[in-house]
Amino acid sequence: MRLGIMASGRGSNARAILAAVRDGRLRADVPVLVCNRADAGVLDVAREFDVPAHVVVRSDFPTRTAQQRQMLEVLQDARVDTVALAGFSAIFRPFFLEAFSNRILNIHPSLLPAFGGTMAPKPQADALAAGVKLAGCTVHLVTEDLDSGPIVAQAAVCVHPDDTVDTLAARILEQEHRIFPEALQWFADGRVSVVDGIARVAPAVTA
Ligand code: GAR
Repeated sequence: MRLGIMASGRGSNARAILAAVRDGRLRADVPVLVCNRADAGVLDVAREFDVPAHVVVRSDFPTRTAQQRQMLEVLQDARVDTVALAGFSAIFRPFFLEAFSNRILNIHPSLLPAFGGTMAPKPQADALAAGVKLAGCTVHLVTEDLDSGPIVAQAAVCVHPDDTVDTLAARILEQEHRIFPEALQWFADGRVSVVDGIARVAPAVTA
């Protein structure tokens, strides 16, 4: 699998993916990282793991479509076949989604379909405000509807009575770092199929 990472922020999920690749838990090449913010911490992560990073900032392009065409070109030039959105804020144009049909995965810090449609830390804050007793994270395929694509993996954590947004987000983040590389390996192994909008994960084949 040739995996492109797209990220906008501090990059802890990008780090978890790259560490899994380094340790052999995720059998993939990561030839490129695309970032849409010039000051994002994830650029340091890319440097640390020797992954070429491309910064594609909205203000350098006349339209969002032009920006996404550039991002697509960067990913295609690197011969990427699968994309991981590791804390990336964007709604993709159809041409971008079609270029990687059912091969773009996003990590979201809630148990979807609850608390979708926003970026961290809003989903975690919304979970606390709703008084839910279980929160968590979801790996899902990206479609035209925000945070609504087929669910591939989820992990739940308990909400503690004294949780703040920060403590809850940290507990969820630990699970993000565990399930995102694992779900990507399922893709690398060809174990994920989508039927009628539902993602199915085939059992692992043991030798
Ligand atoms: C993560 O919590 C991720 O789930 C979230 O952004 C954070 C990025 O952190 N993504 C979303 O909210 C997507 N809607 P990171 O930069 O440390 O990986």
